[in-house]
Amino acid sequence: MSVYQATASAPVNIAVIKYWGKRDTKLILPTNSSLSVTLDQDHLRSTTTSRADPSFTKDTLWLNGKEDEIKPGGRLETCIREMKKLRKEIIEDKDASAPKLSEYKVHIASYNNFPTAAGLASSASGFAALVSSLAQLYSLVPPVVSPSTLSLIARQGSGSACRSLYGGFVAWEQGQLADGSDSLAIEVAPQSHWPDIHALICVVSDTKKGTSSTSGMQRTVETSTLLQHRIKNVVPARMAAISTAIKNKDFDTFARITMADSNSFHAVCLDTEPPIFYMNDVSRAIINVIVELNRLSVEKGEGYKAAYTYDAGPNAVIYAREKDIKEIIQLVLAYFPQTAGEFKDVLGVFGGSVQDVNVHGTIPEGFNDKVANKWEVGSVKGLIHTKVGDGPRALAPDESLLNANGIPK
Ligand code: DP6
Repeated sequence: MSVYQATASAPVNIAVIKYWGKRDTKLILPTNSSLSVTLDQDHLRSTTTSRADPSFTKDTLWLNGKEDEIKPGGRLETCIREMKKLRKEIIEDKDASAPKLSEYKVHIASYNNFPTAAGLASSASGFAALVSSLAQLYSLVPPVVSPSTLSLIARQGSGSACRSLYGGFVAWEQGQLADGSDSLAIEVAPQSHWPDIHALICVVSDTKKGTSSTSGMQRTVETSTLLQHRIKNVVPARMAAISTAIKNKDFDTFARITMADSNSFHAVCLDTEPPIFYMNDVSRAIINVIVELNRLSVEKGEGYKAAYTYDAGPNAVIYAREKDIKEIIQLVLAYFPQTAGEFKDVLGVFGGSVQDVNVHGTIPEGFNDKVANKWEVGSVKGLIHTKVGDGPRALAPDESLLNANGIPK
């Protein structure tokens, strides 16, 4: 008996031009194009194993070891159904000898290597890993099927997931067609083009239960007048300008647009009725610190050093070039000290020493330290230092998340 099984991992992506608003909620078609940086899977990733077998009685999915319901007509069911359809059309209808995997039920196990408590969105890497593992299982891989084609299906799991089908710098083109067949991800530049881009994720403590992206953006579409201005007059020019900046490795322009678009996104949230607040006082203090760092650096004739961006939550993602990341971590530590003994993640830049990371906190000469208060230990509860990364990976059979019987290990 053959075992039909594949394991894939997929990365997280953090947008620099934000997706916020749908013109079709079922197909997940956006009201504007967006652009993101794919982050390194060596740090943050979702891993998924899919197996097709004639003995399975229903499609079943386990997320982090727990069975997750596959609701009829829901996002998971749509992705699995669309992948089976593609398998049938592209492989089985053309080759009568190909096994009819599209007719078998699947068992899928998925695992995120980052804690949900970190408040990092897992839907993008999760749906990208799901689609990638099914694509390998069904032999829907290049040159037969491109990541852009797979992105059409991942998009129907979660909009931002379509951008995790590529590494590097990725655009999601909104498209025009009603069936969504032109609303897909394209690679703007691969990781190898600008590997110098690093990211520092500041995990900000948040006890409140936030508004989900899905419901928040719908409320914005229904009530915000500012959103109409953003999608018509702001985003199209920014998409073009930031793509050029990435191609030219022009960090100043990349940073200015990234910060402006994060501000614009949070402004349309505030313009929603009732208003949505994703950033908190700590998030805003981080903005003030980054703005002052850039002011000082521009004054010295060295240009921008860092760009902040915030998704639908209080965590900051700071993009910077490798040469500046140590100084930025030192500055963040000076304002937002870490719990001693934890977060060894950023110690790498200090030569990997295991001493208390807070001893590295430093404010640069000439920096106006009045721009923000110094916060208590734990206000920023974790720092993750990562960088631009590659697209989904095919993993070896011994990395399978399913045991011999097709049940999570
Ligand atoms: C603020 O992709 O999570 O992170 O399509 O409803 O699943 P759904 O929403 P989702 O929204 C992400 C919004 C964002 C901006 C972005 O990633 O572009």
